[in-house]
Amino acid sequence: MQSLPEVARYLYWSPRTLDEVRPALYRKTQETFLEGEGQGLSLAVVLRETGALLGDVSMTLRSREHRTGEVGYVFHPDCGGKGYATEAAEVMLRLGFEEAGLHRIIGRLDGRNTKSARLLERLGMRREAHFVQNEFVKGEWADEVVYAILDHEWKARQAESPTPAAG
Ligand SMILES: CC(C)(COP(=O)(O)OP(=O)(O)OC[C@H]1O[C@@H](n2cnc3c(N)ncnc32)[C@H](O)[C@@H]1OP(=O)(O)O)[C@@H](O)C(=O)NCCC(=O)NCCS
Repeated sequence: MQSLPEVARYLYWSPRTLDEVRPALYRKTQETFLEGEGQGLSLAVVLRETGALLGDVSMTLRSREHRTGEVGYVFHPDCGGKGYATEAAEVMLRLGFEEAGLHRIIGRLDGRNTKSARLLERLGMRREAHFVQNEFVKGEWADEVVYAILDHEWKARQAESPTPAAG
């Protein structure tokens, strides 16, 4: 999926070959714990019935002092539009707040990545910032949008409609 231009369109990296993906994939397999800043937890998302890989979801510790994490996700377009990425990101928020004790979780995206923005809004995250042309990415200036949710906001949402346990 990382070789597809539509997948890499709003990410920092360009479509990459299997050989280029290997080191990144190796790093992901090492990301199993929210410990140091910049480190994270990366999980493969598979279809329960078949075990087919749909994508991956991650949580990166951005600030230990401020207990802030950042959620991320990359899914194959063939399995888009069914809510799988939303479901996986929701589990990641639960792990971040309930297991890792985070206070605030953010999502950062290219301002044109409307699918990603809709996903974060479905999770109850608030659009807090829109930076105009603050990044030069792959040869062009791009806007960056930041979403966030706080632990007590997450808990209030959970009280209304709990996240199903991770499967
Ligand atoms: C960002 C990305 C994961 C979003 O994919 P997605 O298919 O829109 O997300 P989901 O799998 O959660 O599916 C949600 C869509 O399915 C629909 N849907 C159908 N059944 C659903 C269900 N049971 N629950 C939730 N949504 C459902 C939703 O309405 C939504 O469609 P809409 O946005 O047109 O309203 C995907 O585009 C992607 O991987 N892009 C490339 C990498 C990338 O840009 N990552 C983000 C960097 S910030």
